[in-house]
Amino acid sequence: MLHDPNRVYVFDTTLRDGEQVPGCQLTTPEKIEIARELEALGVDIIEAGFPISSPGDFQSVVEISKAVKNPTVCALTRANKGDIDAAVESLRYAKHPRIHTGIGSSDMHIKNKFNSTREEILVRAVEAVKYAKKSVEDIEFYAEDAGRADVHYLAQMIEAVIEAGATVVNIPDTNGYCLPDQYGQKIKFLKENVKNIDKAIISVHCHNDLGLATANSIAGLQNGARQIEGTINGIGERAGNTSIEEVVMILKTHQVLGLHTNINTRNFYELSRMVSSQMRMPVQPNKAIVGSNAFAHSSGIHQDGFLKNRENYEIIRPEDVGFPNASIVLTARSGRHALKFHLERLGINLNKEELGDAYHRFLTLADNKLDINDDDLLLLMTGDNMYVQSVQKR
Ligand code: KIV
Ligand code: ZN
Repeated sequence: MLHDPNRVYVFDTTLRDGEQVPGCQLTTPEKIEIARELEALGVDIIEAGFPISSPGDFQSVVEISKAVKNPTVCALTRANKGDIDAAVESLRYAKHPRIHTGIGSSDMHIKNKFNSTREEILVRAVEAVKYAKKSVEDIEFYAEDAGRADVHYLAQMIEAVIEAGATVVNIPDTNGYCLPDQYGQKIKFLKENVKNIDKAIISVHCHNDLGLATANSIAGLQNGARQIEGTINGIGERAGNTSIEEVVMILKTHQVLGLHTNINTRNFYELSRMVSSQMRMPVQPNKAIVGSNAFAHSSGIHQDGFLKNRENYEIIRPEDVGFPNASIVLTARSGRHALKFHLERLGINLNKEELGDAYHRFLTLADNKLDINDDDLLLLMTGDNMYVQSVQKR
């Protein structure tokens, strides 16, 4: 079982749940390229696809299995033999194969999706795990829509699938419904009430419909889960999945939680941009950790504080996530300190009076131009008021 009780396993599903986003489909070579970068990032498990869903998805799982050696390669199935057979076949070259099988666990799904009963669903769950276990040792079971499932039934299901051979039990908040406290309590309940729970790792798989995916994942980890599932940039169905970069950096920043991963955080930025460009899915500028503004300081008060000591306004060092560098953006809200910083960077040193004069002209310019770059500053410093006046009012 687990050697280090504080180690959190990172399960990346960018190539499966992430790739389900309309317009984000990738070719097999593109998926291989991302899978190699995920290996370099240090993820423990790569969910490479849903092999029964299409020949292309099947082939991607085959090729990714050949391309990576350290991470476990995982294939998704529903709880039926056809899906499981396809997954087993697609994983034949994987050094560490895993089958991810499962079924709905909420009454909503049991009635309205499967037109079935709790009893029948339990039997199907156990049969699927037993069947998969005949071919692959490492079996992860997902209890779909666990976020809305009755916790007593969920506990019964989890106990039965562990008994049948599941090594990881995934408790998805499929619809991003839970509050962090509710989700954390659900994990705690399973930890305390499923009698064979120590034979499996609990995994958290959260969606972001209410913007709570990261908070819910952390709540799950605080209550005993030791695997977190997510995607790079948080891409995924509807509002997306948990952002792996957010969870990992939360654990690194809040060491008081006592949890750690094996992730090379310096690879985050580059991988984020690769996923964004290959999937044609821009990263919102204010996205935590990897957004283009994540380390940009623009108001005068913040810039002044940052220049005095970066830790005044920086809780993560940009270099720790591979971000090019923190930036002091010059806008009409910037103060003298920020202007001085940029002028000195360009080799221009001014006394107090000269700086006051330059700042006055800078403000006129900044009121009329959105972004002030180095060329603007150099022209500003020629003392050419014509330039300042010639800039069109936006
Ligand atoms: O969100 C979900 O429930 C899933 C399962 C298939 C694991 O993606
Ligand atoms: Zn999902």
